[in-house]
Amino acid sequence: MARSTLIRVVLGTAALVAPAIAQGTCETVENRTSISISTSPAISYTEEQSHYWSTFCTDLKPACILEPSTTEEVAAIVSILRENNETFAVKSGGHNPNNYFASVDGGPLISTKNLNEVIFDADTETVRVGPGNRWDEVGEQLDATGYTVVGGRIGNVGVGGYLLGNGLSFMSTEYGWAANSILEATVVLANASIVTVSNTSHPDLFLALRGGGNNFGIVTSYLLQAYPQGDIWGGNLEFDATPENTAALLAAVRNFTENYSDGKAGIIMTAERTLGTLLDIWILFLYYNGPEPPQEVFEEFLAIGPTINSCKTQRYADLLSGNNWAVLTGSVYTIGTETIPLPGAADGAEILQAVYDRWVNVSDTAKFVPGLIASVAFQPMPKRVAQIARSKGGDLLDLDDDVDRIIVELDYSFTFKSDYDQVDLTMRATYDGISDVVKGYQQSGQLPSDVYLPIFMNDGFYPQDYFGRLRPEKLQLAQKVQAEVDPDGFWKERTGGFKIPA
Ligand SMILES: Cc1cc2nc3c(=O)[nH]c(=O)nc-3n(C[C@H](O)[C@H](O)[C@H](O)COP(=O)(O)OP(=O)(O)OC[C@H]3O[C@@H](n4cnc5c(N)ncnc54)[C@H](O)[C@@H]3O)c2cc1C
Ligand SMILES: *[C@@H]1O[C@H](CO)[C@@H](O)[C@H](O)[C@H]1NC(C)=O
Ligand SMILES: *[C@@H]1O[C@H](CO)[C@@H](O)[C@H](O)[C@H]1NC(C)=O
Ligand SMILES: *[C@@H]1O[C@H](CO)[C@@H](O)[C@H](O)[C@H]1NC(C)=O
Ligand SMILES: *[C@@H]1O[C@H](CO)[C@@H](O)[C@H](O)[C@H]1NC(C)=O
Ligand SMILES: *[C@@H]1O[C@H](CO)[C@@H](O)[C@H](O)[C@H]1NC(C)=O
Ligand SMILES: *[C@@H]1O[C@H](CO)[C@@H](O)[C@H](O)[C@H]1NC(C)=O
Ligand SMILES: *[C@@H]1O[C@H](CO)[C@@H](O)[C@H](O)[C@H]1NC(C)=O
Repeated sequence: MARSTLIRVVLGTAALVAPAIAQGTCETVENRTSISISTSPAISYTEEQSHYWSTFCTDLKPACILEPSTTEEVAAIVSILRENNETFAVKSGGHNPNNYFASVDGGPLISTKNLNEVIFDADTETVRVGPGNRWDEVGEQLDATGYTVVGGRIGNVGVGGYLLGNGLSFMSTEYGWAANSILEATVVLANASIVTVSNTSHPDLFLALRGGGNNFGIVTSYLLQAYPQGDIWGGNLEFDATPENTAALLAAVRNFTENYSDGKAGIIMTAERTLGTLLDIWILFLYYNGPEPPQEVFEEFLAIGPTINSCKTQRYADLLSGNNWAVLTGSVYTIGTETIPLPGAADGAEILQAVYDRWVNVSDTAKFVPGLIASVAFQPMPKRVAQIARSKGGDLLDLDDDVDRIIVELDYSFTFKSDYDQVDLTMRATYDGISDVVKGYQQSGQLPSDVYLPIFMNDGFYPQDYFGRLRPEKLQLAQKVQAEVDPDGFWKERTGGFKIPA
């Protein structure tokens, strides 16, 4: 064989397999496209890395940060990613504290920060929102329109991941999960094609996106239903966590959840233990969709006598940004969750106290971890939310309105990454412990046993079996859609997040 022929054969082969031997995504994107890229130690890189809730995520260092500004640029990145086998991550607000969900060590990070449109259309009463926004920015930009969208309760949380986990809002008892108000989404699929998804276009994918996380593609734009919005009432109440206050607050939140008399009212009831100082407090986030709540709505909480009460009439956008005080950065965070059926009036005090006591007991086992703060949130999930969710086309979680529920959110924050493994075990013991308390009361007949208790994705710890706890038919739908849009397991194998079991 002549030398030149040999070269041509080799080159020809090289050209054919070129995709497989391409260098890293970062370099290829840089060579072939004009997509904005940040690399260490540029200020833009450090700045984007600083926008994680957990410092552990900040410390995971992507090879570069890709900052696409259009759906086409996202598709170009996905095409290039397909040419190699790098792990990568997609990040919106960076609020999910699970490592590798929206963070990556070594591979490229795709930041949605430049996909930040907020376009209100008065005629259709809709808003087009890019995943790169945060809820306080959305609230602020919509303020002058007299409309808003169903979104996060703490302004700093990102739009992109929140909506794919269904999204619990102060407005959920009026309008359902945030995802129930998605009318349309623009999605880049694993084969780099761009699809518009709605109840008439790819309807199965549309359902699977609502509560499906990042398993199906990168959402580059959401079209959301807008709702008229005026001034609201809200703020925080703080109480010392004395045994009397704790008992009274648990009784009050039980009553508040049962019969949910006023859908305009929302609450997050959080207890916080700073283990180094033995400072235990309750902090409540209150919301009412109107300038003043009817007196009886929050009466049971107010009657307990808060040490601090910052509730007032204000703009909705100001409530969202005001709640950002709760976003304390500079710590490693873990989050976990469990769902419990709301106990009846007769046993409510005993059962909720047992849940609380178990949380105290388990969190105590990590008390020597430097900087440890344990928190638990009791989040009402009344039948009303399930009814509204289904009336709007539903979602993967598919709650029924047979029972009221409480979604328990658990967080541990601490100073050093080196303590992660210990806190990881503590987190598992905390939600397992709460689940055991529930099972005990189910066995004694004090809690209903035939109850669907899925977990809420946005509060889930990475080992929790989100998909496995869905209704079998919803899990099957997720599997079917995955087989259609991600037959090679591109999202499944290459990026973090809750995965659909085979
Ligand atoms: C202070 C605080 C308050 C919170 N309050 C609420 C609340 O009120 N209600 C509630 O429901 N949850 C709440 N959460 C939980 C929060 O919704 C989740 O952590 C959520 O994942 C964060 O959304 P993000 O956009 O910031 O996501 P990120 O952390 O950026 O991403 C989370 C996941 O979504 C994926 N993702 C992000 N954007 C896209 C996209 N465009 N396309 C495909 N996949 C994407 C990521 O890959 C990742 O797996 C809160 C969290 C914190 C820290
Ligand atoms: C990118 O371009 C540089 C300079 O032309 C070249 O050396 C390098 O091999 C290219 N990398 C890729 C992955 O195309
Ligand atoms: C891709 O990488 C994973 C681990 O990161 C490895 O298990 C897999 O075999 C690789 N696939 C190919 C085609 O190289
Ligand atoms: C589809 O959504 C539109 C709103 O975008 C709504 O008017 C219509 O009723 C929905 N159709 C179905 C079948 O859910
Ligand atoms: C809870 O509601 C019941 C029934 O309305 C009432 O008897 C009880 O006093 C309420 N509990 C609290 C703590 O207000
Ligand atoms: C909820 O409704 C039931 C049935 O009407 C009633 O017995 C109960 O007292 C109500 N609970 C509260 C807290 O008002
Ligand atoms: C908490 O721990 C104490 C002491 O070990 C034990 O007596 C109690 O039963 C525990 N309570 C719960 C709810 O786990
Ligand atoms: C990409 O995948 C979608 C979903 O499976 C499919 O409908 C579409 O035809 C594919 N496009 C290309 C170009 O292969």
